[in-house]
Amino acid sequence: MKTDPKPDTLEVEPLALEGGAPVRTTPLPLEFPGMHYLDQAEIEAVVRVLKSRSLFRYYGIDLQAEVLAFEREFAEFIGVKHALAVSSGSAALQTALSALGVGPGQEVIVPAYLWVAVVAAVVNLGAIPVLADIDDSFTLDPREVETHITPRTVGMIAVHMSGAPANVPALLEIARQRRLFLLEDCAQCAGGSIGGKKVGSLGDMAIFSFQMNKNMSSGEGGCVVTNDQHLYQRAVAAHDNGYARDEAGRAIYDNLDLCLWGRGCRLDELRGAILRVQLEKLPEIIRHMRESKYRIRRALEAFPQVHLRRIVDRDGDTGAFLILTFDRPSEARKTQQALRAEGIATSSQGITNVVMTDWGLHIYSNIVSLVRKTSTDRRGFPWSLAENRDSKVQYAKGTCPFADSLFERSILLTIPSCLTPDDEDDILQAFRKVLAR
Ligand SMILES: Cc1ncc(COP(=O)(O)O)c(C=O)c1O
Repeated sequence: MKTDPKPDTLEVEPLALEGGAPVRTTPLPLEFPGMHYLDQAEIEAVVRVLKSRSLFRYYGIDLQAEVLAFEREFAEFIGVKHALAVSSGSAALQTALSALGVGPGQEVIVPAYLWVAVVAAVVNLGAIPVLADIDDSFTLDPREVETHITPRTVGMIAVHMSGAPANVPALLEIARQRRLFLLEDCAQCAGGSIGGKKVGSLGDMAIFSFQMNKNMSSGEGGCVVTNDQHLYQRAVAAHDNGYARDEAGRAIYDNLDLCLWGRGCRLDELRGAILRVQLEKLPEIIRHMRESKYRIRRALEAFPQVHLRRIVDRDGDTGAFLILTFDRPSEARKTQQALRAEGIATSSQGITNVVMTDWGLHIYSNIVSLVRKTSTDRRGFPWSLAENRDSKVQYAKGTCPFADSLFERSILLTIPSCLTPDDEDDILQAFRKVLAR
């Protein structure tokens, strides 16, 4: 293992921002963890499916049943009874919330740091998302959740943000006491864990995304998991044509609780085949990111002006992101700009090294349609529904003050799954140069 010099042994070099030579002139590798590991194995898996001329999961000329096999393998990996593959993480959220029966007159608690799809799923079902503040783990603060529970609250969505787990045990306790559901959003944390249990295995249901920028990926794709057979069957109905299926794959018409309205977001066999290969590679992808991240984190511990994100369970961190917080917004901005000048950036397709207020639709107050309560229909669904009239919610900046303060004082770096020791050296050297000031 490499050891890195202590900050007090370093000479002060001129910063690139001030005309000095940058540490690096070639862009850092792009994020997209699963994609860096895509090779002949995925290609062969896809070709096998194409040759079978059977791209649909439920029937085919020579059905390979790749999606079904992936679901079984993924359920075993996560440690749950049921997995249902779907076409995206957004579809997984809507499928799970449909299975849970979310609708008008209900509130669902969501964190201030999330992805727009989380609130979209609640709003699309006619319910009201209620923001709760985060803590220094950048995930839902259980104390804040308590204060936002109303008679209309039906559940909460714990989002395992930026590669590391949320405090699910504490949230689960509240959920059990207050009879609420807990849906885990593991889109950014596939393969992560808490207390040795995989994220996705702790709540009532969980969702995953296999979009291009996730720990394992088929370009697009998602999954819903649960231990509850009834919720699973409702999810099957919601993701397909509205009807659940029995063990033999036949539609069930005689149980009205399993007759929903379908969203048509099934996963296809090509992606199912890719995901089976990616799942095998996931532990290695995570190992690589964790090693890079914790080498950089350890070195940064020597700088007292840097506050590293609190990680709920370090052993369960997938390592995909590094977040550092400063005392003042100006320090965060200056550090980010100085690092960028030193070459700590990717090509334009990537997004490493941003002040978190610029982290797009992950930040509640950047989601214009939420702040302005826009609607897809002219009558203002769901905000204007009579059932929702008692939900007096706000989403503008200031709603979650701790999150607001964290976002403007923090910078976020992506940790690609293919960083070399030389790349890490450059990142460390740039940090040392910049932080020595
Ligand atoms: C936390 C979170 N939830 C849900 C999603 C939605 O996934 P998808 O892009 O596959 O629809 C994402 C995707 O970025 C995400 O980061």
